[in-house]
Order: sequence, then structure tokens, then C-alpha cells
Amino acid sequence: MPTLTWIGKEKVITHHHDVPFKVLAHQYTFNTSAPPDLGEPSNKIIHGDNLEALKSLLPEYEGRVKCIYIDPPYNTGNESWVYNDNVNHPKLKKWLGQVVGKDSEDLTRHDKWLCMMYPRLVLLHKLLAKDGVIFISIDDNEQAVLKLICDEIFGGGNFVNNIIWQRAYAPVNTKKRFSPNHDFIICYGKDINALTFLLKRTDEANERYINPDNDKRGLYKPGDLSVGPIVEKQIYPITTPSGRIVYPPKGYCWRYTESRFQDLIADNRIWFGPDGNNVPAIKRFISEVKDGITPMTVWTYKEVGHTQDAKKDIKTIFSENELLFETPKAIKLMERIIQLATSSNSIILDSFAGSGTTAHAVLNLNKKDGGNRKFILIEMEDYAESITAERVKRVMQGYGGKEGTGGSFDYYILGEPLFVGENREYLNEAVGIDKIKNYVWYSETRTALDKFTPGAADDTLLGVHHNTAYYFIYHPERLTSLDFDSLVGINVQAGQYIVYADNCLLSKDFLFRHNIVFKKIPRDLSRF
Ligand SMILES: C[S@@+](CC[C@H](N)C(=O)[O-])C[C@H]1O[C@@H](n2cnc3c(N)ncnc32)[C@H](O)[C@@H]1O
Repeated sequence: MPTLTWIGKEKVITHHHDVPFKVLAHQYTFNTSAPPDLGEPSNKIIHGDNLEALKSLLPEYEGRVKCIYIDPPYNTGNESWVYNDNVNHPKLKKWLGQVVGKDSEDLTRHDKWLCMMYPRLVLLHKLLAKDGVIFISIDDNEQAVLKLICDEIFGGGNFVNNIIWQRAYAPVNTKKRFSPNHDFIICYGKDINALTFLLKRTDEANERYINPDNDKRGLYKPGDLSVGPIVEKQIYPITTPSGRIVYPPKGYCWRYTESRFQDLIADNRIWFGPDGNNVPAIKRFISEVKDGITPMTVWTYKEVGHTQDAKKDIKTIFSENELLFETPKAIKLMERIIQLATSSNSIILDSFAGSGTTAHAVLNLNKKDGGNRKFILIEMEDYAESITAERVKRVMQGYGGKEGTGGSFDYYILGEPLFVGENREYLNEAVGIDKIKNYVWYSETRTALDKFTPGAADDTLLGVHHNTAYYFIYHPERLTSLDFDSLVGINVQAGQYIVYADNCLLSKDFLFRHNIVFKKIPRDLSRF
């Protein structure tokens, strides 16, 4: 497979390992009605750089996200607004200096963009579920190189399609050559074989189904019986019930051979209109067609809205004197993506959240179909609160005469790192014991710590996974030991025991005989 090289690549391809693991610091819960169910993941809005935020999400969300949509900076060079659409953001410049080192002075804007995107895409790949799918909005500035790095990260075989979104309906006549009116939406599956997309038939489409002759098979849509190119033996006269003789139009033949057509007549599957005088049509019964339509790859503004629609939408949510977001995506576009790629309990992640259109679309769809999808938004700019979260609050509560969708979300910022010290050799006790336990459980099992695991409330037992019991004997103020006293607390049945403590006072032989593996805190805690 051809691979792309650029300055700084070798520094960033494994950089996700070096990103410090920070805990998410809860700021507040926004709630329109009943308190959220504690047993389920909540909607989340995170203010912070997505590189660190995505890493923080791993313990709870690795392999669980069904749909990722991202709309990263297109690298157009436009710096006119609060949000930089290129790679000259001071934070990014500083980060590149630290990660890429001296070479960062030689980076072109494309090198910088690739350095920025690569480790983020690696983390997004980890978060995707087995049957998950990622959609990435982009334009010609970076589309070609994005495709190549996605082939590397997601696997070329998991490329689904490059969708064309017709984002504008009229040319910009000041442009010298073309006036581009489309964006790309690149789509990859975690495993392409686990994906099927069906576009739900709209109510409008359903209205085209009729049953004027009271067919007992129910509603049907009369379909064209003529097709091209011509197959000679499929051109034959058909006599309508009214006695008229009809042929296929010039350049076409009938869809079926004459004998197959006679079988369809016998089965009452041909419709000649209310007077029996129309050109024949095949009855396509709603009960016999798929539950939706296979989507095509060109999405027109008539179907999914355009950029001007998106700007209008946002003006109905925020007033003139509030800071407006200038590059939102259309809500209908986001609804189409989410509807294609999710079911009613899916988790949807947008790590370049902007004005929060993704959450808006998730809430709309849940309201429409009674679903319980959950969103996670990440936004690094200061408007994460004043625009991103504020939009979501207004959508939940109702705005401009629109009924609210209801719902709740938790707002976070990036908190303390879990490890401190030059080589991340010490546990940072300031993060709190629960967060530490979560991390240990995740690093051992790659699953989220289930709050309801029987026995998990116990001081030291984290839980049992694949017949292995995990214990974490830890105290912030004093050293702990795995000794005969602490064995009293090890009281669940399991094939193997993994026990974390500061010291071990039991002999190797004893540990071996009782299937106990000792792990030293913090030395043996995985850094991932
Ligand atoms: C094109 S906008 C997204 C617009 C969004 N789709 C909408 O409909 O409103 C890109 C957003 O990503 C944010 N962003 C850029 N780099 C980021 C990073 N490293 N971490 C988090 N957010 C980032 C920008 O601040 C900006 O708000």
C-alpha cells in the first residue's frame, strides 16, 4: 500500500502513547427534567484539546463509540475569526515545537496539519466500536492526504466511501475559475464487514405507496416496467384489460420475459391503473422491500441542507448580539449521518465540536424516534461554554418557539494528570482514588469499570473479569502490603488473582501455588 511521508511523521505516529493521561474534571450537570440514570454513560461536553480529551475517554469508551463525526479545520488559511481554520493556532505551534522538535521550523502548513491529525485519528480509531464508523468532513486543501493517512490508521480495506455534500447552491462569481460548491465526507468503518447502511424511508416516500385495488398484500408502489438497454426478446405486445395494445417506449424493452410477465399477471402483481387502460406497472409491496433505501454518495442540499441553512439555523438559536459561530454544519446533514450509522442506544462522538451541531442532531433524532443515543462533544476554544454547551442547553430547553428535546449533559474540563514526575513514575493522588481505580481496571481489562459489579463497593476488589479477580490495595497516606492479613480481604472465587499493593511480603512460591500475581504500585501500572 502506498504510504505518505511528511516532516515530523516519525515523531507523531506513536505520539498518542506520550500524551499524558488526564482525568476529566466534572464542572456541572445540566438537566432539564429527571436526574440522569447513573447506570448509563451520560451526554458529555468537554472543554479542552481533543488530543488529551480523547485519551481521557479511553477507560470508559474504548471500543464503544458507534459513530464518530469530525469536522476538523480544513487548513484553508482563513484566520479571520476567533477560530483559526489553519495550523497557526498558538497552542498548536507550541505543541508542534515540543513533539516534532527542531524540525518543526521546517514544516509546511500541510506537514503541520498532518502532524496535528495523525495522533488524534489513532485515538479515535481506538474509541470506535467493532461495528463503528467514522465520518470526516474535509475539502480539497487536505482531502487527498487525509485519505492516505486514514488508509494507514483504519486500514485501506475499511474505506467505505467519499461522500460529496453539495454545500452551496449558487456560484461565487468573484472566483476566477471554479466556484466549489461541495465538501467531502470521508467514511471508514472499524471493520467494513460489520457495516450496513440503510436510509430510512421518509414519510414523504411512504406516501407514494397506494392500494387502490385493495390488494390483500397491502400498500405497494407501482414501478416502471420498461428498462434499457434493449433485450430483443423482451419486446412484445401487452394487451391491457381495457383492450389497448402497448409496447415498451422506443429504446427500451420490458423488464421481464413474456413468460415471467404472464406469471406476474397470474399473481396479480401488474397494475394497469384504475381503468385498466394504463401502461403496465409492477407492484412493489411495502411489506416486501427493505426497511429503507441504500444511500447514494452524492448528498444534495435539497436533501440535507446547505451552509446558508446552517447559518440560518444558528441565528434562530443565538441572538444578533451574541457571538455567532461562523462555520456550522447543517443539522439535516448531521441527522442523515447519525441516522445511517447508529441505532437507538449508540454513542456518538464529535471531537471538533464547534457550535455543537452533532449534539443538536442527536437530540432531534432521539425526540423523533424515542431513541436514547448519547453524545460526547470536545471543543478546545473558550466558547465551549458560551456557544457549544449553550446551544445544547437551548435545544434541550426549547428555543425560538421550538419545543425542547429535553435531556441532560455533564460538562467537564481536563483535570490533573494521573501520573506525575519526569518519567511519569509517580501516581498523582490529587486525582482521587475512584479515578485511579478506574484507570487500573481499564488498563488490565480494557473495559470500563462497571459501577454495579457485585463486590465492587468493597474497598480493594475492583471486580472479576474473565475469571481473574483484580484487587487494588492502596492508601494515599501509608504504604500497603500484600501479606497474610490482606489475604483475608481476598474472598471472591476466581481462577487467578492480580493484586496491586506497594509491597509484597508473601513468598514467590506461595503466590505461585495460589495463582496470585503481585503488581507493585505505581511501578507496574500500565502507561498507555
Ligand atoms: C469546523 S469547526 C466545527 C464546526 C462544527 N461541525 C459545527 O457544526 O459547528 C472546527 C472546531 O474544532 C475546534 N478545534 C480545532 N482544533 C481542536 C482541538 N485540537 N481540540 C478540540 N477542538 C478543536 C475549533 O475550535 C472549531 O470550533
